[in-house]
Amino acid sequence: MVCHSTREMQRGPVLDGLPEWYLAEQLREFKLGRRGNNPANRAGVLMGAAMAKVETEPQLTALARHFAALRPKPFIRVIRGDIAAGRAHYAIRCASCHGAKGEGKPEIASPPVNVQEDWFLLDQLRKYANGQRVVHPSNAGGVMMKASAAALSPDDLRNIVAYIAKDLTVTSPLQKVAPPKP
Ligand code: HEC
Repeated sequence: MVCHSTREMQRGPVLDGLPEWYLAEQLREFKLGRRGNNPANRAGVLMGAAMAKVETEPQLTALARHFAALRPKPFIRVIRGDIAAGRAHYAIRCASCHGAKGEGKPEIASPPVNVQEDWFLLDQLRKYANGQRVVHPSNAGGVMMKASAAALSPDDLRNIVAYIAKDLTVTSPLQKVAPPKP
């Protein structure tokens, strides 16, 4: 609850509203040590350590079910970019797997990208591109995902995320509250 909510500054992603199948799949990857064992990815290592405490498959699926049942949480958009460029790249490079609305395609194990916070999407894209997010060779979709992130420049990735957050994300943006006037 501390790591996957908005209560702490140093925290992991909010997972509310991700589909149960994707959460369970990723939790299994952490549990099996196929994700979360790359020392270069400190956040991933913390998550790998946390999963060591989840002992049984029923516990794991119950966790996935819990987060999947929560409504996606609105968040403050922090990633700025060229929306038109991002839209064009998304249509060509991402939509075939993640859907025109970012809704994901469970039949090819592609998660939605329209519920996560923008900073987390960009963080993961960078980590796929630089190898910090490890995908097991048997995870064919993940291998293709890595290749598609690695084929784009840092600016392209930022623009794509800015576009997703503006046009595809299912929640309305939270606004920063202006500080009180002195
Ligand atoms: C060949 C299909 C395919 C393409 C093309 C593709 N993805 Fe993915 N994407 C996947 C799969 C499968 C996963 C889950 C991989 C894993 O297990 O790590 C994924 C994972 C992700 C994640 C991690 C989500 C999370 O919450 O963990 C993000 C973000 C993402 N993709 C964004 C994109 C963007 C942006 C593009 C376009 C540049 C793209 N993907 C292109 C299939 C694809």
